[in-house]
Amino acid sequence: MNTHRPLAEIWGIEDYFPAEVLSNTYFEKTLETNDQWIQERTGIRERRRSQAHETPGFMGTEASKKLLAKTGVKAEEIDLILVATITGDYIFPACTSVIQRDLGAVNAFGFDLSAACSGYLYALETARAYVESGLKKRVLVIAAEKMSSILDYQDRQTCILFGDAGSATLVAPARSSESRIIDSILRMDGTGIPCLFMPAGGSVKPPSVETVQNREHFVKQEGRSVFKRAVQDMANVSVEILERNKISPSDVKCFVPHQANIRIIEAARERLGMPIEKVALNIDRYGNTTAATIPTALLDAERKGQVKKGDLVLLASFGAGFTWGSILLRY
Ligand SMILES: CC(C)(COP(=O)(O)OP(=O)(O)OC[C@H]1O[C@@H](n2cnc3c(N)ncnc32)[C@H](O)[C@@H]1OP(=O)(O)O)[C@@H](O)C(=O)NCCC(=O)NCCS
Repeated sequence: MNTHRPLAEIWGIEDYFPAEVLSNTYFEKTLETNDQWIQERTGIRERRRSQAHETPGFMGTEASKKLLAKTGVKAEEIDLILVATITGDYIFPACTSVIQRDLGAVNAFGFDLSAACSGYLYALETARAYVESGLKKRVLVIAAEKMSSILDYQDRQTCILFGDAGSATLVAPARSSESRIIDSILRMDGTGIPCLFMPAGGSVKPPSVETVQNREHFVKQEGRSVFKRAVQDMANVSVEILERNKISPSDVKCFVPHQANIRIIEAARERLGMPIEKVALNIDRYGNTTAATIPTALLDAERKGQVKKGDLVLLASFGAGFTWGSILLRY
């Protein structure tokens, strides 16, 4: 029996945002929408859009380079790379191959993980499992999305919501008992597929002239149904993880919810009884960056002094699939 099971800790996070800013007024030129509607209904002021070379592979690599420099870990020491994305550089091979190559992580293997907006939590849990089992010691969790590559800029209900971003998180054995991933609850309900998906491009509907003409290679969303489920499931799973760990919301230093809509966050926060000062928010500046919202918002909170090493942090997500969950950790 292994009596020395290591605990897993987040050693660091870094981000990468494309330089191009799309403000809400950008959409006013081509769509029947306006800055006021977007800000009031979503909380988004602006988002980033990638240039051609800024793929998830590129953004993930750039964030990883910064992270390795920050943590003093060498690329050769990385033994696993997990990439949470729904907009990978190719259908195949995995985006992980691009990052492994460009980072020179010669001793790593890895794979992509498709869980949309819950991708970061699913990947963090996988990294934790590898570290706690003792199988791997230096795991890079990449969450990177080029949502602009699958957005229909004629659909005002979706194109205003999303943005592009990359991030890298290093998960490794905990150096002290102060910082560690404590618990997680991850869920899935496949009946939600038609509410949020890209209809064509997969094997159900391979690309054809017809699928392109029908604009089926873009994100399709039933906004209201997704909204309702997001509020309910993100709040419930957050309450559940706190209760089972006998932790009160007042003990949590920072709540980092998936950034899809400020009204979803507001409703979840209220149900949890979490004061707004404790909520990590970057939706106003970056919109919904799918898998990348939670790590970038957590890093943002650290930079603002909202959270520091050893603090109790609650992460919560909801996304396509449906997928949702929460992770409790000491940062
Ligand atoms: C998409 C979303 C912002 C729409 O906001 P909403 O308040 O629910 O708006 P509704 O869908 O009820 O639409 C209200 C009206 O605004 C209109 N509208 C939608 N998008 C608009 C836009 N960009 N500008 C102006 N009007 C818009 C609708 O057409 C509708 O008009 P109608 O009443 O004449 O039919 C919201 O439903 C949402 O955030 N859903 C969940 C998104 C999400 O979490 N996605 C990712 C999950 S990870």
